[in-house]
Amino acid sequence: MWGRLATCAAVANRRCRIILRDFISKAIRMTMNLFDNPDDTESPHQRLGPGAMLLRQFATPAGADLLSALEAVVAQAPFRQMITPGGFRMSVAMTNCGPLGWVSDRTGYRYSAIDPESRLPWPPMPEPFRDLATNAAAQAGFDAFSPDACLVNRYAVGTKLSLHQDKDERDFAQPIVSVSLGNPAIFLFGGFKRADPALRLHLTHGDVVVWGGPDRLRYHGVLPLKAGKHPLSGQYRINLTFRKAG
Ligand code: SIN
Ligand code: FE2
Repeated sequence: MWGRLATCAAVANRRCRIILRDFISKAIRMTMNLFDNPDDTESPHQRLGPGAMLLRQFATPAGADLLSALEAVVAQAPFRQMITPGGFRMSVAMTNCGPLGWVSDRTGYRYSAIDPESRLPWPPMPEPFRDLATNAAAQAGFDAFSPDACLVNRYAVGTKLSLHQDKDERDFAQPIVSVSLGNPAIFLFGGFKRADPALRLHLTHGDVVVWGGPDRLRYHGVLPLKAGKHPLSGQYRINLTFRKAG
């Protein structure tokens, strides 16, 4: 009796060990697959699509310079909450620099060389802005990016930007370069239809997202900003979006 029981226990024990061994080797294989892609390990940069990259912390070294150059832009063209064609006031406050600026009013969305508030040209695009945008585009595989528009978005607590496509530009061959500064936010990077599933990217100070080529018309947006305080931007998140619009 005791002998038979001992044999049974030994068999069960052996089965258990085999199951455990298979389980462990499967888990190791799965973990290796997860980290096989060098984008996930050595590089801080993550490919989001054939024409889209997330460049983690790419703008961090220039962050303080970018925000102080922004002060001169805002002194000349203050942040304002534009009106949508449907008559709603946007929650994101915006301004522009560079030859062209994105504007919205009751008549629609468009690019304009003139700030409708001051009736003057938009302030010039500061050199550190242009350098950062062209370097980020090149890093993502777009060598000849030459932006003529920089839209500056300012998000306060609770401010969001609904899913949309950037399609007011003339040339979709040129990418969008989007720089996040200050407080973090969740950026939605979706598909080609509004209802397509979207990646939720947690973007922090210095992160840059570039999308162009086959990814140029992807829907994207920003979830309501959480409360926070960043040493360089206070309660706000600042986003610089560079485009070749004209
Ligand atoms: C935009 O789509 O214009 C801005 C996106 C962002 O704030 O990250
Ligand atoms: Fe956009």
